[in-house]
Amino acid sequence: MGNRRIAVFGAGYIGLVTGACFAKLGHEVVVRDIQDERIAVLRGGGVPIHEDGLAELIAQNAERLTFTVDAQEAVRDAEVVYVCVDTPTTPSGDADLSRIWQVLDSLHGARHLAAVVVKSTVPVGTGARVRAAMDSAGLHAVGYAANPEFTAEGRAVQDFLHPDRVVIGSDDPDTTKLVAQLHDGVDGPVVEMDVASAEMVKLAANALLATKVSFTNEIATICEATGADVERVVGAVGLDHRLGPHFMRAGLGYGGSCFPKDSRALRALSGNAGYAFQLISSVIEVNDLQPRRAIQRLKEELGGFQGRTVALLGMAFKAGTDDIREAPSTIIASRLQAEGASIRCWDPLVRALDGAPWSSTTRCPSPLEAMDGADAAVVVTEWPQLQELAWDEAAAVMRRPLLFDGRNLLDPVQMGAIGFTYMSVGRSTVRGTA
Ligand code: UGA
Repeated sequence: MGNRRIAVFGAGYIGLVTGACFAKLGHEVVVRDIQDERIAVLRGGGVPIHEDGLAELIAQNAERLTFTVDAQEAVRDAEVVYVCVDTPTTPSGDADLSRIWQVLDSLHGARHLAAVVVKSTVPVGTGARVRAAMDSAGLHAVGYAANPEFTAEGRAVQDFLHPDRVVIGSDDPDTTKLVAQLHDGVDGPVVEMDVASAEMVKLAANALLATKVSFTNEIATICEATGADVERVVGAVGLDHRLGPHFMRAGLGYGGSCFPKDSRALRALSGNAGYAFQLISSVIEVNDLQPRRAIQRLKEELGGFQGRTVALLGMAFKAGTDDIREAPSTIIASRLQAEGASIRCWDPLVRALDGAPWSSTTRCPSPLEAMDGADAAVVVTEWPQLQELAWDEAAAVMRRPLLFDGRNLLDPVQMGAIGFTYMSVGRSTVRGTA
């Protein structure tokens, strides 16, 4: 069927990866964003976010990839419009769809449009509303599809090109076929369904992954209370092929732009339908408590934070990304400040940050500098650099060798041998012997 002209709306993590991957597959892609600065960076050959392999992909496919702030220019020749704009949460817990409506408002100038495809995460029922809005705008002949996105940050390019599945929801077979053909060359099965079910797949998948994380964190808490070791427990539980080892890493809780928002959106969606989804409410509550519990344990060990200095190792919500949206680090930093601590922080990718709590922290160029003179350190993000660190040097520069490993990244026995009081999640505290 050949290559298509695609306009991607939104040059965030999802839009840029989608645009670059479609260009790699041979399509002509124009990516549109409302932020002038972002588009200027992209036009200048730069990439405004960190995503593994993305800069290379954009450079390699530059002849099929353009960037614009002009919506009319983007849609004029497009055969398919891909909607990858953000859908933030409103005060009622619903998703704010205003950016999707803005995309629809700009479609009148399109001369060759065959389909609108929504990749943004939306409440179930959005597709039906968009379809109705398109019909009343005279776009009856233009197809509609939901094509939810399952890529994880840090490995999004890989996930896009080698997915577990491509889900296409459309009530019109021609549109389903068109969207499936856009994915020719993608190494994964296409699963076709109706629009509402496709929207639900996305929310259900993220909710189940978040549930596994919160479940593991609850088991970890019980391990702490009973003397069991969560890493041993999970290692053996995960060998059951029906359960699998994934998303069972105990830690400071899930963050990022997806799990927190999507779990709340699913709870709101259920509530709006008159159903109290108790399980997802508990998942959210466990996750909210996880960083607070860690700070409380550290506080007890240290005897209070007033006048103390704490090193935060990692700010990103997970390793491999520069993203701090809903990162546990933000809760931890502001809790520590509320308790009277000064913070020295380090992260290899996160760029300079304004506003509370970060504006009143000291940013350090290396983990060792962050720990220099600190009364305690917290591993917040599982950066590999921390695994390779000379922890004996860290113990020597700290005022007191006290480490809370919020990602169970390090070996308790080794840390104890170095002289650390080593606390982690779901494992007994080790008191330094050096
Ligand atoms: C997640 C999903 O994994 C993607 O499939 C989905 O497409 C994406 O959300 C989305 O909705 O856009 P992402 O938010 O990039 O991807 O990150 P994950 O790797 O899933 O991690 C989410 C959070 O859970 C992180 O804070 C991570 O540290 C935490 N986590 C993950 C744990 O605490 N324990 C684990 O075992 C796994």
